[in-house]
Amino acid sequence: MAPPRFDRHLFVIFGATGDLAGRKLLPALREIARGLPARPAPLRILGCGRRPLSDRQFQDEVIAWWRRDRIRDLAASIRWARDHLRYQSLGDETPEEYRALGARIAEIERAQGLPGNRVFYLALPSHAFGKTIERLGTAGLNEAPGWVRLVVEKPFGTDLASAEALNRTVHTYFDERRVYRIDHYLGKETVQNLIVFRLANMFFESVWNRDRIDFVEITVAEQLGVEHRGGYYDGVGALRDMVQNHLTQLLTLTGMDEPTNLEADEVRNEKVKVLRSIEPIRAEDVVRGQYAPGRIDGRKVPGYREEDGVSPRSDTETFVALRLNVNSWRWHGVPFFLRTGKRLPTKRTEITIHFRSPPVWFFGPAVPRAIAANRLTITIQPDEGFELAFEIKRPGLAVELETHRLHFMYSEAFGPLPDGYQTLLTDLLLGDQTLFVRADEVEHSWRIYTPILAHPPPLQPYPSGSWGPRAADELVRAHGYEWSSP
Ligand code: BG6
Repeated sequence: MAPPRFDRHLFVIFGATGDLAGRKLLPALREIARGLPARPAPLRILGCGRRPLSDRQFQDEVIAWWRRDRIRDLAASIRWARDHLRYQSLGDETPEEYRALGARIAEIERAQGLPGNRVFYLALPSHAFGKTIERLGTAGLNEAPGWVRLVVEKPFGTDLASAEALNRTVHTYFDERRVYRIDHYLGKETVQNLIVFRLANMFFESVWNRDRIDFVEITVAEQLGVEHRGGYYDGVGALRDMVQNHLTQLLTLTGMDEPTNLEADEVRNEKVKVLRSIEPIRAEDVVRGQYAPGRIDGRKVPGYREEDGVSPRSDTETFVALRLNVNSWRWHGVPFFLRTGKRLPTKRTEITIHFRSPPVWFFGPAVPRAIAANRLTITIQPDEGFELAFEIKRPGLAVELETHRLHFMYSEAFGPLPDGYQTLLTDLLLGDQTLFVRADEVEHSWRIYTPILAHPPPLQPYPSGSWGPRAADELVRAHGYEWSSP
């Protein structure tokens, strides 16, 4: 495949010495650059952070990340880092320091013959987004000789009011066409494939509605706890950290109608329509849990309240299960069950479409109809692929049914998949906003969950290594269903 054709540009990263930059952004940029002609250099990278580092010291830190993470082709990557990475300290982030940043950007562009296209990537804690955007704007860095693109990481706000306020700040300096809100789930191949899977396969699309589908289940299970991120996670919780963004993205891509075409705004209009059709969620349809001590893979693990950076009396949820209704012609009466949690038995992200049972049942009471309902499981990670469960007659004289599965696995067909950040950064550099979250989309999503955040249902502990509080099972059972796992 021909390499993508980017405009030559300067890629400025705020928070350049943090985890995200070291582990995800810089390796992804390195991979992207690998596929491009080396001369003239398609991009240069300017890392910004509070610490006073020289270019060389910054490069050393990045190289140390890469050694630890065993990046491929290390020697060539080190040469590339020395050649392409520069650093500018923002110390106390005063207006003078932003003016100095502007001068440094201009100097690098002059020295490298870059045409003045700039990316500003905010890989920062979310409380710093607003202030940084304002400083960039007041220093006049929202304008440039070429294009300027602003990238904002998640979480974008902590509720509806804060997301609206942040959007106002963004739009004071950057119009929406230059804004790229990241949700890294949108970079996953399997998530993008949801669109192709639905729109390129007539036989799925023709049954993708309330006439044929009984209920939809979206599970994002994690085996890890909060690890070293207790300080960030405590007070945030699973609803803000996972449901409002990642699970809701999976929901909108599963539930949206066909767009007029695949242009960014057409796709995003359809996603917003789904969000606008979601009925207010009732408190009794939400289960909040928090992991207690338990065992994972036979190993004893501590409870959430014993983790570093977490208050011993914390009321933060590490698990959420909820039911919601999408009140549209396509989905009226089809419940969507969403579930996510940390310290569950396994890491698995899956969307399961449960089809209706046949209207008339010929096979007697020995085979319950519900068992025989077809099921399509789309596995987002790991073991990316899908599986269709269907019934066949077991060979023999008696009519006995048995469930079998057709499956497709990406790894069998294509080998390992690229990292999601590589896809997202490629689209960013091409100026394609389809896989980025639009301002109204993020606000509509917060509108759904803000009432739950304001009046959270009681927290229920669950042992680490279990599938969450029992109430989560009861939530689906109350409607006559079961989660597909366990
Ligand atoms: C992040 C959350 O956005 O997504 C983390 O902040 C979570 O808490 C992570 O662990 C999960 O991402 P993935 O790609 O491993 O499913």
